[in-house]
Amino acid sequence: MNGVIDKDWWRGAVVYQIYPRSYQDSNGDGIGDLDGIRTRLDYIASLGADAVWISPFFKSPMKDFGYDVSDYRDIDPMFGDLAAFDSMIEHAHALGLKIIIDLVLSHTSDQHSWFAESSSSRDNDRADWYVWADAKPDGSPPNNWLSIFGGPGWSWHSTRCQYYQHNFLSSQPDLNFHNPLVQDAMLDVARFWLERGVDGFRLDTINFYFSDQQLRDNPALPPEQRNADIAPAVNPYNHQNHLYDKNQPENIAFLKRLRACMDEFPAATAVGEIGDAQYGMDLLREYTAGEDRMHMCYTFDFLCPEQPTATRVAKVLEQFEADAPDSWVCWAFSNHDVVRHASRWGLAAPSAIPHLKMLASLLMSMRGSVCLYQGEELGLPEADIPFEKLQDPYGIAFWPKFKGRDGCRTPMVWDSTKLNAGFSDATPWLPVPDTHTTLAVDKLEGVSDSLLEHYRRFIEFRRSQPALIKGTLERIQVIDKLLTFQRTHNGTTIYCAFNMSEQPVRCDVDSDQPLALLPNTGFDAALEERTLVVPASGAAYVTLG
Ligand code: BGC
Ligand code: MG
Repeated sequence: MNGVIDKDWWRGAVVYQIYPRSYQDSNGDGIGDLDGIRTRLDYIASLGADAVWISPFFKSPMKDFGYDVSDYRDIDPMFGDLAAFDSMIEHAHALGLKIIIDLVLSHTSDQHSWFAESSSSRDNDRADWYVWADAKPDGSPPNNWLSIFGGPGWSWHSTRCQYYQHNFLSSQPDLNFHNPLVQDAMLDVARFWLERGVDGFRLDTINFYFSDQQLRDNPALPPEQRNADIAPAVNPYNHQNHLYDKNQPENIAFLKRLRACMDEFPAATAVGEIGDAQYGMDLLREYTAGEDRMHMCYTFDFLCPEQPTATRVAKVLEQFEADAPDSWVCWAFSNHDVVRHASRWGLAAPSAIPHLKMLASLLMSMRGSVCLYQGEELGLPEADIPFEKLQDPYGIAFWPKFKGRDGCRTPMVWDSTKLNAGFSDATPWLPVPDTHTTLAVDKLEGVSDSLLEHYRRFIEFRRSQPALIKGTLERIQVIDKLLTFQRTHNGTTIYCAFNMSEQPVRCDVDSDQPLALLPNTGFDAALEERTLVVPASGAAYVTLG
């Protein structure tokens, strides 16, 4: 960009998410690593992505596969070392790709030296760096808070003879953000990576940083409101209204400190992951308001089982435009925590590929930025992992009603002719299913009507249309199974239409301006006078004026 820094690069960016254990193994241990990622960056650049989000690769005992950090300033040896990180990011930048890393600030691993110190006595220098509390007189935990991964949200520590809080595993103790020194330590971590050249952060569980200092009990939720995104029925965590174990108002002041730290750097961005079924929209609005909090938040609206019908998508978009018009959201259909959308929405059969193409284009046409999860560009279905091979502690706890997250974390499939589809020469940490090998990159690359080539073609088309990247969104309409809306930027308006039905649909474009059908979208749409013909499971883009 001729040396001009685009501070706003993240607005409308396409971010490709890598789960590093499963992208590419370079050293034959069956686990993906940073050198492996480096060798695959050309592929990501060839998709047309703007940035890469890499799930955690910091030093970790891997109880939650890296979301349990024991040293924020080092790379886990299984993934490489800092030199491997530096050369990976250098290669990414040479290709024009930004690097977003995943900061897990809410909790550490119990192997972190801070926890060792904090748990050693009640009066050490880090005694209140974690959330410690005495037992109730009857010995039970201080309140009713639960862990998402099962059981109480408190574990007993026999050295301090106190309980410590954890929202996830007992080996993921929750930090006490009420202590300004904890905040300072985390800002130093952010600065460490920004100085190393990262372009931004995905902030894990951003609404979990603070819990109520009075340790009040969470109230119960009536059964009809237990509408959590993941494992809704089987997990008692979803029986509570999480008023006190997360979502605390004090978080805003910390987010402002974090933003100020990021603003010391020319163009860093942050996308916060809000995990909350009740207050998600309110938090998103609060966390992204103005210019002094987070840039974007990540939502679960399309990571849930509910089908993205025309009516449902319109409802979500309308709600955002009404309730958070000034916010910038990051949309996703799949990630490392949920069932892959091809399976979740019943679109895993080859006959559903047109529908997956249309949905991919819809995802990249909404107002916001986008995360694509490794393998979704191949249409990978959820892998079926038998109990004996399960790795995810969440799945092990709630099997068989909830099978956990291994099914979306299996290795990326590169080359159908190679062992383990080219992921590794060794037995991979999770198996490569046969149903995936047949969808490997070598099978789809260069095949004009493949899903992979659709992602490439559509991202290229989108790059040529600033209205689809940065534009406002208005005039959302549902006509039977057709969803339409308009995107406008710098005087250009694009009318977008998505046909969720299996029949072509004709619709009159609701405008008296001159119309032009945009080519190179990958869809066979037609414009007959003022009537748009949108193909079955297809989309159409028309400029107005
Ligand atoms: C991550 C999960 C992780 C959890 C605890 C999240 O929401 O995406 O993979 O298990 O936070 O860190
Ligand atoms: Mg390896």
